[in-house]
Amino acid sequence: MNACVRAVVRAALYRSVETVGVSRGYSGLWSGDAQALTSRSVGGIARWGGTILQTARCEEFCTPEGFQKGINNIRTLGIEGLVVIGGDGSLRGARELHNAGIPCVGAPASIDNDICGTDMAIGTDTATNTILEALDKIKDTASAHQRAFVVGVMGRRSGYLALAAGVAGGAEMVIVPERPMSMEEIVKEMAQARERGKPHFIIVVAEGARPTATDICECLNTVAGPKYEARLTVLGHVQRGGSPTAADRLLATKLGASAVEMLLSGQSGIMVGIRAGRPVAMPLDEVLAEERPADEELVRLEEMMAL
Ligand code: F6P
Repeated sequence: MNACVRAVVRAALYRSVETVGVSRGYSGLWSGDAQALTSRSVGGIARWGGTILQTARCEEFCTPEGFQKGINNIRTLGIEGLVVIGGDGSLRGARELHNAGIPCVGAPASIDNDICGTDMAIGTDTATNTILEALDKIKDTASAHQRAFVVGVMGRRSGYLALAAGVAGGAEMVIVPERPMSMEEIVKEMAQARERGKPHFIIVVAEGARPTATDICECLNTVAGPKYEARLTVLGHVQRGGSPTAADRLLATKLGASAVEMLLSGQSGIMVGIRAGRPVAMPLDEVLAEERPADEELVRLEEMMAL
């Protein structure tokens, strides 16, 4: 997100437009907490994880009174347009602000890559690479000890991270919220892999998938027949931090700069996304209308590569 903040500030300055950074998202709008951002104050931040502006969930902003207070603060601060960087909740807020007459453009940021209207969201590539690094390391123990490893990754409603890292990291199985599996199927595939002479069996399980990573690991250790001894590794919040990859910094820079250009050309109520490497706009109503389905190409490849 820092690379996107930097891009917004610099793209605005390039057009002689001033920028203020609102602290902690809608919480800062509600309390009127914002500071001027200069080219120097965003210097060197693209390589940092997290966001210098910080973030928060804000219950107060969701009430009609709190929302109105936010709008009043926007006017008092002299803000004429907003770039909202975030996931589903942030983009819903942006749509409300647009409907209330505040020019707003969204930029998708979510490691889950669960937002429609863009090929990729900010943060996804860095998180995928973090998982990949962990899978490579886990595979060393798995192969040496001929074990199964159940690796729990983030993704409450979307299995993109699990699928992308699983395909890139050569997992034997990936379980995602969009495609629940029965324990019988999992055990059967594991036994077949054993018979095919696989030295290990790695299962990547998204947080929102059923059965859960914990249930799967427990079950694998109790079944009879050809099997691998199983271990559980839940990666947790290491997936959410760290220095962003080049792909993420480039994506964030493109999205931040385009969001400013779109705002300055009079557009609002849209999200800027990326399609085939190019920035594209989509109305927030359309972005928020549907759940993003599982990536069918990754599903197909995962099955093919697991042989
Ligand atoms: O929504 C993105 C996400 O990364 C989910 O995959 C995960 O469940 C959640 O954030 C974790 O959020 P928190 O840091 O609030 O526990």
